[in-house]
Amino acid sequence: MKKRVAILISGGGSNMVRLVEDMADPDHPAEPVLVLANDPAAGGLEKARALGVPTAVVDHRPFRGDRAAFEAALQAELEKARPDIICLAGFMRVLTEGFVRKWQGRMLNIHPSLLPKYRGLHTHARALQAGDVEHGCTVHEVTPELDDGPILGQARVPVKPGDTPETLAARVLRQEHRLYPAVLRRFAAGDRTPVMLD
Ligand code: GAR
Repeated sequence: MKKRVAILISGGGSNMVRLVEDMADPDHPAEPVLVLANDPAAGGLEKARALGVPTAVVDHRPFRGDRAAFEAALQAELEKARPDIICLAGFMRVLTEGFVRKWQGRMLNIHPSLLPKYRGLHTHARALQAGDVEHGCTVHEVTPELDDGPILGQARVPVKPGDTPETLAARVLRQEHRLYPAVLRRFAAGDRTPVMLD
C-alpha cells in the first residue's frame, strides 16, 4: 500500500510540483492525496489541479488570528484525506504545539537554510549578511519548536560574489527541488537516514 501524502502550501508551490511529479513513478512508495493551501490565491492550487491532485483551501484570514480555530479547520480537511504523511512545502503559517503533536513523526518541512542556522524568515539575506561561503536547505521532521526537529536531509550551495538574496534564493530553490523528493521517497519507505546532497 502506498503512503498517502498531503502537501500544504501558501504560494507558488514549486516544491509541491516536484513532489507530485516524483510520486508519479509507479515504484514510488507514496501518492499525493491532497494539496491544501491557506490562501485561495496560492498559485500552486492551479498547478495541483493540472496535475490531477485534489485541492482544498482553508483561508486563515477569517479566523482573525484564532490559530486553534484555523487549525481545527485544517485538521478537518486532513481527516477527510486521511494522509499518512504531511509535507509542508512553502507553508507560511506557524503551527501550534497541539496541532504539531497530532502529526509528529508524520510531518515534514522544507526550510531554506542549513539548519540549525537561520530559523524563521529572511534566511538568504541573513546568510549573506553573515558572510557565509555556503548556504542551502534542510528537510526536517516538524516538532513544536519552529524549524527544529530531526534533520532528514540537507543540500548545500556555494555563496558567490555579487549574490543578492534573490540570486541565492534561486540557487537554493533548485536544490530544494532535488532534496525534498529524495527525502520523501526515503521517509515514505520507512528510512529516516538523512539525505545529504552537494
Ligand atoms: C521555499 O524556498 C521554501 O523553502 C520556503 O518557501 C519557498 C516556497 O517555494 N519555505 C519557508 O520559508 C518556510 N518557512 P515554493 O512555493 O515554490 O515551493
